[in-house]
Amino acid sequence: MRFILLGAPGAGKGTQAKQLIDRYKIVQISTGDILRENVKAGTPLGVNARSFMEKGLLVPDDVIISMIEERLSKPDCSNGFILDGFPRTVSQADALGSLLKKMGLKLNACVYVEVPEEDLIKRLSGRRVCNSCGESYHVFFNKPKNEGVCDKCGAGLIHRKDDHEDTVRNRLKVYHNETHPLLDYYTKQNIVLKIDGTGDINDIFKRITAGLEA
Ligand code: AP5
Repeated sequence: MRFILLGAPGAGKGTQAKQLIDRYKIVQISTGDILRENVKAGTPLGVNARSFMEKGLLVPDDVIISMIEERLSKPDCSNGFILDGFPRTVSQADALGSLLKKMGLKLNACVYVEVPEEDLIKRLSGRRVCNSCGESYHVFFNKPKNEGVCDKCGAGLIHRKDDHEDTVRNRLKVYHNETHPLLDYYTKQNIVLKIDGTGDINDIFKRITAGLEA
């Protein structure tokens, strides 16, 4: 199984991907997570990406495309993958198409998770993430067992810099201008699975798996 999770910031792509990789025994490729790991490690890629990310802007396409090319060539992708947060521009989608063609692979679906804007802002402003393993929580909707502590690895939870309100509004603007057009792009390829991304996390998971398995 190879598919894209498309949706606005805060739509729940990362939350759903964590359950979907267990279900299908495939890997999650989150460009946001890879970039954050590089920022944390202070690599040249991370140093370059940091200023874009903190302002809620997209990291340049050439940087992202070579990062994905390298990631997709790893052996753990052979069973399938979920692309979470990629592609985010039409150029990235074109590059992905060429890359998959070269690899002799096809996408099964583009799962579009739809959530109203007021919910996105609530979700992002209350999100807390593990500083060590990256697991995502929410102060109301998805609480850890012990406040401020990751259930999975016991490390502390943080409020991502780009989850502060001004940056969130910027990310949503960038999403509407640059990423939302991909819905049309993949509709033309007839691979879009539209999912109502509101309500209980497990119900959304059931909607996605039912759609993918239909
Ligand atoms: P990235 O990390 O990809 O951020 P994003 O797409 O903005 O997505 P998020 O991680 O914010 O949201 P999500 O949909 O995964 O939601 P989550 O499951 O966490 O990118 C960050 C930055 O990196 C970008 O701004 C850009 O600078 C750069 N970047 C990354 N990829 C790039 C690319 N391809 N090209 C260029 N630049 C790139 O859920 C959110 C919250 O809601 C959580 O607290 C969760 O617990 C809660 N929640 C989830 N589901 C529900 C539910 N059903 N009900 C209530 N709460 C819920």
